[in-house]
Amino acid sequence: MLDRLFLSVPSRIIGGWGSRKELAPLLQRMGHKAALIVTDRFFSQQTALVSELQASLTASGIESLVFDGGIPDPTVEVCLEAQKEIEQKGWRERIDHVIALGGGSNIDLAKVLSILVKYGGTPQDYVGEGRIPGQPLPLIAIPTTAGTGSEITAGAIIVDSASATKVAVMSNDLRPAIALIDPELTLSCPPNVTADAGLDALTHALESYLTQDSTEFDRGSDPDPVYAGCNELTRMFAAESIQLCFAHLNTAYVRGTDRPAREAMAAASLYAALSYGSAGLNAVHALAYALAGLTHASHGRTNAVYLPYVLDALRDIRRDDLAHIARSIGETATDPDELARRLVIRTRNLVAECGVPVSLAEFGVKESQLPDLIKNGLAVTRLTKAFPIQPAEVVYERIVRNAFAGTLDAERKI
Ligand SMILES: NC(=O)c1ccc[n+]([C@@H]2O[C@H](COP(=O)([O-])OP(=O)(O)OC[C@H]3O[C@@H](n4cnc5c(N)ncnc54)[C@H](O)[C@@H]3O)[C@@H](O)[C@H]2O)c1
Repeated sequence: MLDRLFLSVPSRIIGGWGSRKELAPLLQRMGHKAALIVTDRFFSQQTALVSELQASLTASGIESLVFDGGIPDPTVEVCLEAQKEIEQKGWRERIDHVIALGGGSNIDLAKVLSILVKYGGTPQDYVGEGRIPGQPLPLIAIPTTAGTGSEITAGAIIVDSASATKVAVMSNDLRPAIALIDPELTLSCPPNVTADAGLDALTHALESYLTQDSTEFDRGSDPDPVYAGCNELTRMFAAESIQLCFAHLNTAYVRGTDRPAREAMAAASLYAALSYGSAGLNAVHALAYALAGLTHASHGRTNAVYLPYVLDALRDIRRDDLAHIARSIGETATDPDELARRLVIRTRNLVAECGVPVSLAEFGVKESQLPDLIKNGLAVTRLTKAFPIQPAEVVYERIVRNAFAGTLDAERKI
């Protein structure tokens, strides 16, 4: 059970309705004096959250500077703009911690700033794995969407405008010091943000549950890997997350004011990240990065469109795992093949119910673009190498062509 166990997480995970109010006294107790708050204009101009946060920090003897220039899918330029603003305002030497308020985009921007404020340089200096010289400034991540899990993970994803692709800064030192999950913050998410983020969480949970086992995962000679394959602990979190997503995502999407559904999805996102943040991901994300490069559609959508087809491709090799998951979400067939088949179809149906395209053709992809999508997905070797079917060329081709046509092999056998 404990064979090749690996779990790397923030040192404090705090959650609950209104739990954001517990933050300032905790930061005071930890000895912090000056915060950089990283957010976007929705939160600074259309909600009272930023002013309330600043007031509570002031009451705890902590001064704060707000950067509210966050954008969806932050770019290298936005990181540099924030860095310049901090320098110009004379805050660089004062800031001793960073607070991220927002979705995965603002959290990733804050992660990069936690490095740049301490060590200088440019974001590109740190792209790749293990390139940060040491601990960045302590980061407190307060997610306002339920999906990315960036508040737990070791990565920051930014857009490198020079190549128009997403690049990752990865290190276990980049994991936030505190992840604060207050489901109340997700109540204002519009349906499309709820759907995209929630399907991202479901993808994280399913993909990391089914990824290569930690006993087979190639860590190379890295003594401190970011990802290390799935193990008993990560699978416990993933299994719980999958059940929560199937039970509550549709309600959160259709009725955003439903508090139990919002709380369940906040938990689902957290648990998924506690799984994939150490186990890692594979084909869905590799293929989705290539699709995002082509269409610039949101991260959650580009994942969701591939998820059913990747599960479909795994029905033979991971049949028992798929059957186990199907049972956990209420399927009652006795034949494992039938259970696996039903899980694939249930997943595709959930994606469709959330208003997300279920085929690449619906995304506007042309058949002539499929070879590049396959090639670029295969090129994300850090993910592709963990896919349970190796070599991956033939199966990636089948996944992409099925996804283009919207055809599930699982359905052909009806
Ligand atoms: N670092 C990681 O581990 C990791 C993992 C997955 C995804 N990501 C990244 O996260 C990003 C996607 O994040 P996301 O899905 O959370 O969306 P997002 O952060 O890009 O936000 C999307 C939009 O929703 C708005 N929004 C966020 N919370 C809201 C709320 N409570 N009420 C109203 N509007 C709200 C934002 O202002 C923004 O306009 C992508 O850039 C992706 O690459 C990072």
